Amino acid sequence: MQGFPNLFLIGPMGAGKSTIGRLLAAELQRDFVDSDHEIQARCGADIPWIFDVEGEAGFRLRECAIIDELSQRGDIVLATGGGVVMHEDNRQVLRERGTVIYLYATVEQQLRRTAKDRNRPLLRSSDPEAVLRGLFETRDPLYRATADLLVRTDRRGPRSVVNDILRRVTRLVDPLQTKA
Ligand code: S3P
Repeated sequence: MQGFPNLFLIGPMGAGKSTIGRLLAAELQRDFVDSDHEIQARCGADIPWIFDVEGEAGFRLRECAIIDELSQRGDIVLATGGGVVMHEDNRQVLRERGTVIYLYATVEQQLRRTAKDRNRPLLRSSDPEAVLRGLFETRDPLYRATADLLVRTDRRGPRSVVNDILRRVTRLVDPLQTKA
């Protein structure tokens, strides 16, 4: 689709950023990039390993560098990691270089969708629900402040979320079109 900006997906673990991003990119016939996958590919190690060896701070440095690099590309759909908004630099470059979409998910949904996952070091806890609630309190205001659009992802399938995003981004980009 012509005239569409870069689309940057932000939101918590389990919101469906990768699934929805892949579908969106296919629909728009553009590249899908996942910042966590890029970090792992460049580092040659998975995220738990990076957290174990370099700490969360080391991971965040890698994340900032990759977000700066990937967001400079054109015509992409980018799925980011849930903690991307913790750095002001990330928030700024995402806002400046594309349309930012907050995939909102309730903590219950996050918990369900991450229950079997072993690749998220922050959830290696005896009480992942408490962790997700704490992260939500800190990050929800940052997601909202960074995003151009908030899209709910609970109680609906990825296809419906994608259609909603396409409709709402079209309206943002070309407000006259939706009046027709
Ligand atoms: C993180 C979310 C993860 C990954 C890392 C840290 C976070 O990405 O970047 O484990 O701080 O919320 P997903 O949101 O894709 O799970």
